Amino acid sequence: MTAPTRVPVTTRSSAELIRAEEPVLAHNYHPLPVVVARAEGTWVEDVEGRRYLDMLAGYSALNFGHRHPALIEAAHRQLDRLTLTSRAFHNDKLAEFAERLAELTGLDMVLPMNTGAEAVESGIKVARKWAYEVKGVPDGEATIVVAAENFHGRTTTIVSFSTDETARQGFGPFTPGFRIVPYNDLAALEAAVDETTAAVLIEPIQGEAGVVIPDEGYLTGVRELSRRKGCLFIADEIQSGLGRTGRTLAVEHESVVPDVLLLGKALGGGIVPVSAVVARRDVLGVLRPGEHGSTFGGNPLAAAVGTAVVELLETGEFQRRATELGVVLRDGLAALVGKGVAGFRARGLWAGVDIDPAIGTGREIGERLMREGVLVKDTHGSTIRLAPPLTITAEELGSALGTLEKVLGR
Ligand SMILES: Cc1ncc(COP(=O)(O)O)c(C=O)c1O
Repeated sequence: MTAPTRVPVTTRSSAELIRAEEPVLAHNYHPLPVVVARAEGTWVEDVEGRRYLDMLAGYSALNFGHRHPALIEAAHRQLDRLTLTSRAFHNDKLAEFAERLAELTGLDMVLPMNTGAEAVESGIKVARKWAYEVKGVPDGEATIVVAAENFHGRTTTIVSFSTDETARQGFGPFTPGFRIVPYNDLAALEAAVDETTAAVLIEPIQGEAGVVIPDEGYLTGVRELSRRKGCLFIADEIQSGLGRTGRTLAVEHESVVPDVLLLGKALGGGIVPVSAVVARRDVLGVLRPGEHGSTFGGNPLAAAVGTAVVELLETGEFQRRATELGVVLRDGLAALVGKGVAGFRARGLWAGVDIDPAIGTGREIGERLMREGVLVKDTHGSTIRLAPPLTITAEELGSALGTLEKVLGR
């Protein structure tokens, strides 16, 4: 069989495309200077045909790799039949998506949305409504307790309870009703939760903060405290969930089931934005027609891809790979401590690596890795995050770690 002729995707070079963006694209990102034109599995290719190992996986939106065949097939099949109805009508894909997602997560009901931030916003609305209607909090007085160094998205309400001044500066006035306590501190949480508290909202592992893993017992403690004090436990698993840590959900490491689960990123298989609030019936049941919605939320294309994602997770293969290869990642990083790595935190195929500041900033290391064909992204100055597709092989992972060792040694 002859290989298909490769049609160039653009006539402009990477440098020309980067220059072309400058006057016409908002400058809200500082990307690495690589222009991706194609991708397959763990690998991406730039405009000039240079190949890179993707060790970021779209901030965990690409847990199954680029263009996973089962997901692409599900999307193609759906594209040929029905793409959008709006929720004004039913569509024939949504029931199965909700049934299987609820089953996978051990919860009852699904509120489909699109982006992660929308799922967080929706979770906040649901928790407040639950507080007024079920818990009996006086109208307008509901509070939500969150953790310092959180990252839950970029909307006005969400940045209202961020502790990152860059995310907040210039965007006020902010939404009231949030209390911030230190992460991984059950005593502080205990003191902050009172009769007005609708929910405790936390990331089971703080991704953007640098893959910060709480002490063993913290998630169990949050679960116990929320139950005892009569508020909801909302787990934002938008980055930590769907196989990344070696379990379907990061809360499973402590066998904890939250009242409300927020999912996004990998739920869309790297193809379409799909997010969801998944909760018990007595919680999500507070929503009635007209009180919340989204034109695209639960569209048939999203539901078809989301169902195919759930099917992949049902096999357990990706969770198993994350666990097994997580050992390779952890061992590889442990060997670099003192050789340019100041410290690291890892769970499954997810690691925050603190670079010795004497060697370079996270950004500089990211640029050096890029020149050697490995893509990562820095977070918080001197930390880089490793989150490859869960389809990565042991050889590819070993090669990425070898490249890290090489660039740290310069
Ligand atoms: C834990 C968490 N919540 C929410 C979000 C926001 O998701 P999105 O960028 O899709 O709005 C992110 C994105 O990084 C995240 O990591």
